[in-house]
Amino acid sequence: MSKQMSHLDNIPSTPGKFKMEKSHYVHHRLRWHSSLAKLTFWSFMFMGVILIFFFRSPSTNPLPQDPSRRSLRTYNWGGPAWEKRVRSSARIRSRNGVSVLVTGAAGFVGTHVSAALKRRGDGVLGLDNFNDYYDPSLKRARQAFLERSGVFIVEGDINDSALLRKLFEVVAFTHVMHLAAQAGVRYAMENPGSYVHSNIAGFVSLLEICKSANPQPAIVWASSSSVYGLNTKVPFSEKDRTDQPASLYAATKKAGEEIAHTYNHIYGLSLTGLRFFTVYGPWGRPDMAYFFFTRDILKGKSIPIFEAANHGTVARDFTYIDDIVKGCLGALDTAEKSTGSGGKKKGPAQLRVYNLGNTSPVPVSDLVSILERLLKVNAKRKLMKLPRNGDVPFTHANISLAQRELGYKPTTDLQTGLKKFVRWYLSYYSGGKKAAG
Ligand SMILES: NC(=O)c1ccc[n+]([C@@H]2O[C@H](COP(=O)([O-])OP(=O)(O)OC[C@H]3O[C@@H](n4cnc5c(N)ncnc54)[C@H](O)[C@@H]3O)[C@@H](O)[C@H]2O)c1
Ligand SMILES: *[C@@H]1O[C@H](CO)[C@@H](O)[C@H](O)[C@H]1NC(C)=O
Ligand SMILES: *[C@@H]1O[C@H](CO)[C@@H](O)[C@H](O)[C@H]1NC(C)=O
Repeated sequence: MSKQMSHLDNIPSTPGKFKMEKSHYVHHRLRWHSSLAKLTFWSFMFMGVILIFFFRSPSTNPLPQDPSRRSLRTYNWGGPAWEKRVRSSARIRSRNGVSVLVTGAAGFVGTHVSAALKRRGDGVLGLDNFNDYYDPSLKRARQAFLERSGVFIVEGDINDSALLRKLFEVVAFTHVMHLAAQAGVRYAMENPGSYVHSNIAGFVSLLEICKSANPQPAIVWASSSSVYGLNTKVPFSEKDRTDQPASLYAATKKAGEEIAHTYNHIYGLSLTGLRFFTVYGPWGRPDMAYFFFTRDILKGKSIPIFEAANHGTVARDFTYIDDIVKGCLGALDTAEKSTGSGGKKKGPAQLRVYNLGNTSPVPVSDLVSILERLLKVNAKRKLMKLPRNGDVPFTHANISLAQRELGYKPTTDLQTGLKKFVRWYLSYYSGGKKAAG
């Protein structure tokens, strides 16, 4: 795998493994002094490698000819002990419970949704590739938090069809909560391939497995408020136009909505897309403004506050994580069954899209004032023009559809939610990283 390729895939390497092999190699080297012996040794090694390559049985290696596996990091999965953990994590423990595959479970929203499902007795299995788009140690800490409540996260990629097929062989998931994605708006200019890999190719791979599964699961997945792009009609409602994305991220989410339409139409998959509006809270994402503002205010570093054209304010419809989780559960609970089987549609299936926001946009400068009060530190503000590289000046959700059909009703204002975030932040970064949400 070339270096460029692994950068494209945005997947961390495993230095620990390679260190072991290296010391082994050094050890052998010291014992072989004569160059003839050295030559003989390496010839045997070379032939050995060739033989292993040719006689490797295909049954031990799923998809041996699939070139896509070359672009994936190889994860350790499979085996009886692994299957036992998968089964046990996905086991339903309450009457009328469901079994849910949560992709992106080591992510911010995935962690909260998985914990909430587990708490009410549903079977939950996580899947995450633990990529290093942001500090993977935070993902590991969330994983440890979930493990304590009995949720196992399988390490792997949503674009790995062999792995997904295996998971559906082991567990008959009734639902998939698909939250894995390459998030972030500005990073798309640095690493566009990672958006295509996770948000398009990965989503299609997941849907391919879901459509062939028997029974087919119902799927709820995360779209984004960013699909509204340059739309200026406020508040944003589901019927508004979404054909003017302002970033590649938004374009891949919009593509996801169209791909969902196709799989619903052809295969009878039940699909619900949720357009999240700037989610924040404990265990949040370090690449988001509220998170790095907190870090930089505490460090005494200046923070950029963007201004829209003509000194307009930049505002966001900040939505607290617990409200988002309730919306996700509401979507799962109202999802109808998929209608297909054996890859064939049997009748029309449910296809839905909902805004999940807070309906009260707050200027980013107000966000900073709240943080100053909570942290008891004055921020060094640096006013800047909003660059035209993906961010839109404001977002504002019309949530009446989700209110009516999912029983969605956000209850946490920014002041209250940030207080909880700051409490988590301070204990996580000073208290030995053991804080819980
Ligand atoms: N947080 C927000 O404000 C927000 C807003 C709109 C939409 N969303 C969407 O909600 C979902 C969850 O977002 P989040 O904030 O929790 O982000 P996150 O980055 O914390 O979580 C995503 C998780 O998915 C994993 N992942 C990425 N690509 C993968 C792949 N190919 N295979 C397996 N795992 C993979 C990552 O390792 C990560 O843990 C995403 O789809 C995101 O686009 C989030
Ligand atoms: C994803 O998987 C598909 C099918 O296995 C493969 O063709 C494709 O190259 C992969 N895409 C990426 C971006 O990894
Ligand atoms: C919000 O959306 C609903 C449709 O879901 C629409 O009837 C209503 O007029 C919208 N409200 C506003 C303020 O635009």
